[in-house]
Amino acid sequence: MPDSSDIHDLRGERASHVTGAALDCVKAVRPGTAVTLILAQEPSLLMASLNLQLRENLAWEIVEADGAWRVTVSHRSDIAATDVLTLLAADHKRIDGLLAQALGLLNHGKVDAAVPLLRAFVIALNRHVAFEDDELAVSLGAAQSSTDQPAVIMLREHRDIAQQLSLVEEVLAVEPVDGSELSVYCAILSGTLAKHEYREEHNLFPLWRVALGRRSEGERSALLERARMALTTP
Ligand SMILES: [Fe+2]
Ligand SMILES: [Fe+2]
Repeated sequence: MPDSSDIHDLRGERASHVTGAALDCVKAVRPGTAVTLILAQEPSLLMASLNLQLRENLAWEIVEADGAWRVTVSHRSDIAATDVLTLLAADHKRIDGLLAQALGLLNHGKVDAAVPLLRAFVIALNRHVAFEDDELAVSLGAAQSSTDQPAVIMLREHRDIAQQLSLVEEVLAVEPVDGSELSVYCAILSGTLAKHEYREEHNLFPLWRVALGRRSEGERSALLERARMALTTP
């Protein structure tokens, strides 16, 4: 539970300032910490917006009492993934982390240490893309006429990512591994992935979340289980 210094009463804020004030309060939330906001208006939309701005890092609980709303906000990593999209967003971070670590090592000339991380990265990214293409685009929609645009963009960007990833794999396949060539391809891929993940989390996942909401509880948990298996099984 947050102590009193982590409780922010925003009921006195002007409506136009509430979002900015709430963002200031929650952006410091780290794993193992939580803050509570007290708000005059129902905060579901506000929280969804803050969560998007903070790369879906937030988890929250809303309680209405005495004409106000109390929102306890914690870090997403403190909560087990409860839906497939939260799991995919966490997987983005895991994949980005592997690549960033490998790039750091390559920049210091530590090619041998970077190679196993990059092999794990290649496997993780291929699994992630395959799950989005083969499961989610099929079951949550890449073909729903007017709302399909972000899914179509995702499929196209996956083809670009596959091409860039194959360059990394080609360098990894030749001994001794050429660290400077690897570093260039990894840097390009890192930029491509950052933009791609941003677009997915901001444009596509909200649409898929609506589609997911129309599924039964059983279908949602089956999809989450398939995602866990697909992304992590050796
Ligand atoms: Fe993707
Ligand atoms: Fe993704």
